[in-house]
Amino acid sequence: MRIAHISDLHFGFEFLKNKFENAIKQINKLEPDITVITGDIGLWGIHHEIRKAYEALSDLESDLLIIPGNHDARNDGIKYFNLYFGKTKRTVKIDDIVLIGVDSTLPDSDDGYIGPEQRQWIAKSVRQNCINIIAMHHHVVPVPHTGRNMNVLIDAAETVESLTLHCYGGIVLAGHRHVPYSTKLLRTHIIHAGSLSSYKVLMPDNNYNIIEISEDGISLKLRFIDIGEVEIGRFKLKPETPESLRKYHKLTSVKKILFISKRNACRTKIAEALFNKISPDNMYAISAGTEPAKDVDPIVSKVLIEMGFSVSTPRKLRRGMEEVDYVISFDEDVDADELWDIKVPVDKEDCKRVVKKIEKMINELVRKIILY
Ligand SMILES: [Fe+2]
Ligand SMILES: [Fe+2]
Repeated sequence: MRIAHISDLHFGFEFLKNKFENAIKQINKLEPDITVITGDIGLWGIHHEIRKAYEALSDLESDLLIIPGNHDARNDGIKYFNLYFGKTKRTVKIDDIVLIGVDSTLPDSDDGYIGPEQRQWIAKSVRQNCINIIAMHHHVVPVPHTGRNMNVLIDAAETVESLTLHCYGGIVLAGHRHVPYSTKLLRTHIIHAGSLSSYKVLMPDNNYNIIEISEDGISLKLRFIDIGEVEIGRFKLKPETPESLRKYHKLTSVKKILFISKRNACRTKIAEALFNKISPDNMYAISAGTEPAKDVDPIVSKVLIEMGFSVSTPRKLRRGMEEVDYVISFDEDVDADELWDIKVPVDKEDCKRVVKKIEKMINELVRKIILY
């Protein structure tokens, strides 16, 4: 599998036509399986830049994965990107390699942002037992020798966690700083491309990356358009994610607990109220069940309010319950992670006993979720 990784074409005022045309000829000769363009197609996000780029890129013979950069998002330019290149994020699968193009731009801003929705989309798009390659314009770690090495994605910390967790042993491709560079975050390979055809080139010549992926690992070459090729190195791929990353992620991620009862929702009401008061910040509960028993429910509500808990009405039990991390059932015939064998309270004193019992079980549950 061969990838030509090009970036920062900058059609418009900065554009160097000769460099671009030479590069396209070279890339066609290389016959890559795919060419990945990590953004900054134009300069000001204006129509004729993107149209010119679209026309010129039609000379490229390989398949293309193209995502926008901050310059393409200027002046509401993403609409022209959409017009000529389609969606700003997409996946391409070639054999056992999955390429995931992510949109790191913000409207009319030079800052980069991935955001929780795209991070979730990355998590869903990566494939186990495949080599995952995530392409974005902005860099997730600072690139040295660019004069602005502190400037990274706004949500770099969350993105780094997401990439190392979901793209462990994979590759991240980026551009933006016009300086080619590669580094590793644990075992995730981060590869930046320089600028293909902008006169703002902080290197001896405009350049692009040639990445070969085989069973032995990755070979990375830096191709200067008019000077020649430098072999940067060969790296091993290692697809397993270390347990430590999963543990940190588990500890910090939000946990949603479902308390469920088919027959009587009074206990789920107590459990939900208690859990949401005494559990850690990143855990919360919802309850579901049948309608609460009319004779018991007012007692339960009264006791909970007296004890300082806020109460809500449990949702109706339905199929395809929203995604939850842990399910506690009070009935034997409900498919759940745990069964809590607690009787429905019959009077006020009994209700207080049930509250104490559920409180104890919730503390054990929280401990179990954190420690295992
Ligand atoms: Fe750029
Ligand atoms: Fe950029």
